[in-house]
Amino acid sequence: MRLLTVATSTLLLGLSSAIPTPHNGPILHEKRTHSTQLVRRHRAPSTTTLPVRIGFSQSNLDIAHALLMELSDPLSDKYGQHMSAKEVSDFFRPSSESIGSVRDWLHSSGIDTDRHQVSPGRGWLKFDATIEELESLLSTEYHVYEHSETEELHIGCDGYHVPLGVHSHIDFISPTVSTIQIKSRASKQKRGSTKASPASFPPYVKPANLNLDPAAFAASGSTIPCYTAVTPDCLRKLYGIPKGSSKHKGNEIGIFEDGDWYDQEDLDLTFAALSPNIPKGSHPALEGIDGGIAPFFFDGSEQIGVESLLDMSIILSLVYPQQAILFQVDDLTALEPSQGFGDTFLDALDASYEERGQKSGSTGAMPCKALVSPCNPSSFGDDGAGTLGLESLLGLSFMQGPGAANGTGITWPEKEMCGAYKPTNVISVSYGLGEDTFSFFYENRQCVDGVSNRGECIIPSNGTYNGDPGAFSPSFPASCPYLTSVGATQINPDDKTETAVAVDNEEYYSGGGFSNYWPTPDYQQSTLANYFKKTPPPYNLTSYGNPYYNQSGRGYPDVSVVGLNILLYVGGQPAFVGGTSASAPIFASIVNLINEKRFAAGKSTVGFINPTLYKNPQAFTDITTGSNPGCNTNGFNATKGWDPVTGIGTPKFSKLLDVFMDLP
Ligand SMILES: *[C@@H]1O[C@H](CO)[C@@H](O)[C@H](O)[C@H]1NC(C)=O
Ligand SMILES: *[C@@H]1O[C@H](CO)[C@@H](O)[C@H](O)[C@H]1NC(C)=O
Ligand SMILES: *[C@@H]1O[C@H](CO)[C@@H](O)[C@H](O)[C@H]1NC(C)=O
Ligand SMILES: *[C@@H]1O[C@H](CO)[C@@H](O)[C@H](O)[C@H]1NC(C)=O
Ligand SMILES: *[C@@H]1O[C@H](CO)[C@@H](O)[C@H](O)[C@H]1NC(C)=O
Repeated sequence: MRLLTVATSTLLLGLSSAIPTPHNGPILHEKRTHSTQLVRRHRAPSTTTLPVRIGFSQSNLDIAHALLMELSDPLSDKYGQHMSAKEVSDFFRPSSESIGSVRDWLHSSGIDTDRHQVSPGRGWLKFDATIEELESLLSTEYHVYEHSETEELHIGCDGYHVPLGVHSHIDFISPTVSTIQIKSRASKQKRGSTKASPASFPPYVKPANLNLDPAAFAASGSTIPCYTAVTPDCLRKLYGIPKGSSKHKGNEIGIFEDGDWYDQEDLDLTFAALSPNIPKGSHPALEGIDGGIAPFFFDGSEQIGVESLLDMSIILSLVYPQQAILFQVDDLTALEPSQGFGDTFLDALDASYEERGQKSGSTGAMPCKALVSPCNPSSFGDDGAGTLGLESLLGLSFMQGPGAANGTGITWPEKEMCGAYKPTNVISVSYGLGEDTFSFFYENRQCVDGVSNRGECIIPSNGTYNGDPGAFSPSFPASCPYLTSVGATQINPDDKTETAVAVDNEEYYSGGGFSNYWPTPDYQQSTLANYFKKTPPPYNLTSYGNPYYNQSGRGYPDVSVVGLNILLYVGGQPAFVGGTSASAPIFASIVNLINEKRFAAGKSTVGFINPTLYKNPQAFTDITTGSNPGCNTNGFNATKGWDPVTGIGTPKFSKLLDVFMDLP
């Protein structure tokens, strides 16, 4: 979580861009609010070229929330009447005045108009500029920062200024306080060496000491209890999930991967052992972003990513014969050591895709960058296909994506794609979002777990971490109110019931808590009020005099699903994988199967599901045992009813299906 702080503050500023300062010169637009773990090292070289992006203030953001709720409240007449991407784009499109003012300002500051590129949906303007130019433009100094734990290097500044006349037209500029990472070698795992897994990959992995001959396993069926090894059959049994049986075109499930690649051999071994109905060679259809490919060989060895394998093994096993689409974001050139820079924002699915026919032909490639931020209202507009018409489904996990860039500068790559792909109805995302936080995904599974994010507690006065006992540090974007946050459970030895996950020696717990940034959304109000009334967590104030958690914040997770001991092959060997990164794809698959049934009945996709979930706790098994310790406390308890450990509970497929089939 701590790695995310900068991104989070950017998003916050996106919500309320004004920092009024009363004088005529350039005014402070944004400043670093938390020190995080980025330590300032030295001035950045003035000749380095950075890819700059300016997000325009968008129209109608004030009503975005209400609009989304109207479309997703099961009691609303408009339920399920999702907007088209074009409607979303038109509705939130920044004004011409905003675009004009910013362009005039840049032009008069020496960044000529012909260097600007405005994104097709008009949410963004981008250009390349040297650090020298930027320092003058933004009255700031750029520095190289080092992450104190991962040692990754970033370029950014502590704050920046813009003229009063453009201040209100801009959400934010990057890279600035939101840094850009100087990309280092991707973490590598060679075939046959699984030893790197437990330490270097975000999911919690341990080798499965099972004699798991795929053919024998498939032939005999598993006699191993689900408590020990969670197979797709276990998941179906546990939640009453039917086998996938249909394949509605247009309902493919989206899987997002970044910097982590599946390998076919492991998928084949997993399917052969656990899902023999899935033919050898099955894998999601690749929709590579900016040249993203998978599988991937580096230095002659195939890359094996636990995250990818986990997502794909689970999802394909549950939804097959429905297919999956892989949105693989990669920056291959930047894999060269000390060469190139990770681009900042996710470069994925842009609402302007409706323009693809006209602008870019069938290949769909067009220059543009998209921010897909499920919680940034900016994303409701230009780039926000992900939010309104689309089911954005995330667990306690994040989305992030460096684009392509190469070593000579950090210029925009030739092959950027925008609107090239139509978003799928459900996207399972297991990565972080945040322009400064490329490294995040390496840690995020642990980082988001428990109330304290692995022992990191906030010192409320200055927002730094490791205040012990400080306040709990909520995780982002799990705390975002516009997505479904999925906590993790484990199966009890009775092989039937579940408890909140706890692997004490790994400090792996189900993340949960209350946001400091987003207030309790309407759909949670009565549920949370009830929670505080019936089972108030017995915390007073921290030793710094602040509350441990924010009672008026958005509570998370929303639901939970098993996230421990998921059996799959990694590097040719059976392994148990755990993490909320396992829970998210399981829940995503359930929603995909529900959409499949709704399509068959001529209905729309379920869209944003939280308002419906909270009105239907009967569609869940309440998890009432376990807790998520942290900050030298026991954290929160799983309790009767919703709790900030396991949410409403684990799904009962048939009940949930009834709920959604009863809706228009
Ligand atoms: C970087 O990009 C430029 C412009 O697209 C290209 O000419 C150059 O060959 C690239 N360099 C590398 C190392 O890929
Ligand atoms: C934050 O506050 C704590 C406690 O007062 C202090 O020890 C720490 O040095 C402060 N950190 C920063 C970066 O100001
Ligand atoms: C608590 O949450 C509310 C609502 O999101 C927010 O306005 C407030 O600033 C938060 N308090 C703290 C101490 O972060
Ligand atoms: C959790 O439950 C234990 C045992 O009932 C209790 O002592 C503790 O106060 C509870 N903690 C919270 C945060 O509710
Ligand atoms: C909270 O304050 C009450 C009243 O002062 C006290 O009885 C209780 O022990 C305190 N709880 C904790 C966890 O410090």
